[in-house]
Amino acid sequence: MKRREFLLGSSAAAGAFGLGGLSLAASDPVQELVVQPASYRLRGQRTTGMVSLSPDAPPPVLYGRQGETLRLTVRNTLPDYTAMHWHGLRIRNEMDGVPYLTQMPIGENESFTYELTPPDAGTYWYHPHCMTMDQMARGLTGVMVIAEPEDPGFDSEQVINLRDFRLDEDDAFLSAYTARGAARAGTFGNVQTANWRSEAVYDHAAGSLVRVRVVNTDTTRIYNLHPEGAQTRIIAWDGHPVETDVTRPTAAQPLLLAPGQRVDLAVRMPDDEGQSALLLAKFPGQKHRAMVRLRATGHSIARDLRELRPLQANPVPRPDLDQAELHEFVFGWTPEGGAPNDGFCGSLGYSFWSINRTPWPGDAAQGTGPLAVLQRGKSYVLRLRNESPNLHPIHLHGLAFVPLTSNLRKLPPLLSDTMLLLKDETVDIALVADNPGDWAFHCHVIEHQKTGLTGFIRVI
Ligand code: C2O
Ligand code: CU
Ligand code: CU
Repeated sequence: MKRREFLLGSSAAAGAFGLGGLSLAASDPVQELVVQPASYRLRGQRTTGMVSLSPDAPPPVLYGRQGETLRLTVRNTLPDYTAMHWHGLRIRNEMDGVPYLTQMPIGENESFTYELTPPDAGTYWYHPHCMTMDQMARGLTGVMVIAEPEDPGFDSEQVINLRDFRLDEDDAFLSAYTARGAARAGTFGNVQTANWRSEAVYDHAAGSLVRVRVVNTDTTRIYNLHPEGAQTRIIAWDGHPVETDVTRPTAAQPLLLAPGQRVDLAVRMPDDEGQSALLLAKFPGQKHRAMVRLRATGHSIARDLRELRPLQANPVPRPDLDQAELHEFVFGWTPEGGAPNDGFCGSLGYSFWSINRTPWPGDAAQGTGPLAVLQRGKSYVLRLRNESPNLHPIHLHGLAFVPLTSNLRKLPPLLSDTMLLLKDETVDIALVADNPGDWAFHCHVIEHQKTGLTGFIRVI
């Protein structure tokens, strides 16, 4: 393909979505993603020392198509190591971006080409899995959209990347974590953003149908979200279409969106010009705040949510519960505060957390683990028990699972890759171990992951 065709192709596709993303058609050559320092005005003044894929903008939305191969060369210009992970994509293990487990870290001025053939359509994201705390806190968390072959009939699309930054009065970075935070719920940011803006406002045609893809890419915060001002339906969870009728979140019963999780909403824009569809978040000690305002423009085009075609289910095998073997995991504090682990890519210098009462139970750099060995093609139930007072979004790479039961609540059976465990909660999840390799298994509160709550599961 000639360069001119490539440019035309990509701007046309980005235009169709009304977004300034990077569009990656199947025939595109390798696309280069340059990890680099950036600066941006998140608040009053420009914040320097950020990390992105361009010098002055948030990490772009990456677009791919279900079943088509994307080739992405990640080039590292930072003086630190990095490695890129594609959260939620059920891809080949060598492409999963986990240092020492699936690849060597990418050094300064080195690059690594990832070949991704996502079997599933949906909303995913990318972030480094090396120097994770530092590079994610400084901004390197982006959204990835894998389009289905057939569009369900939306008029437009809106990607929302929710995350905090921790800044001082001069809008310079504060340290990304504190030992106090890491040993508890995590260290929270003090500037909440959607697409790096304190209030994100976007125009969409009055009366139109908008697909809103909401991604929590924060290192710590569990968002309490609810829509207001427009008819809204949940159509996908963690990338996968929602078949059952999930209750619409409200101010009293908000949607909990934990770090790593995604929700796709179908929003029917208000009919009157200037009216807005809102996505509100509740933060501790504050009133509800509009993180996102979708503003209706022009004369209503009077669409109806019932005109949307249902999303096709992704090809995820259903576990056979009669044959499934049970594996149990307990997440909590370390018994006697274990030694810090310095071999892992970017240690915080503490060991506060554990799986099965062992900190760093599966650490490829130290040659320990795996936590479990699963036979390819067989069904499993993983019992996840939280014995700590803090919440843990437990993430499994490379495989999709479905929650079965909780001791505390009724869980809809939505396919997922990140399961939020509440205080004292035990959740059984089921999966088919259909993707061979060593798959990272960790808490997505990065301070928990980076102080011991991380391991891996082997599928052979
Ligand atoms: Cu989104 Cu192992 O991470
Ligand atoms: Cu992941
Ligand atoms: Cu945790």
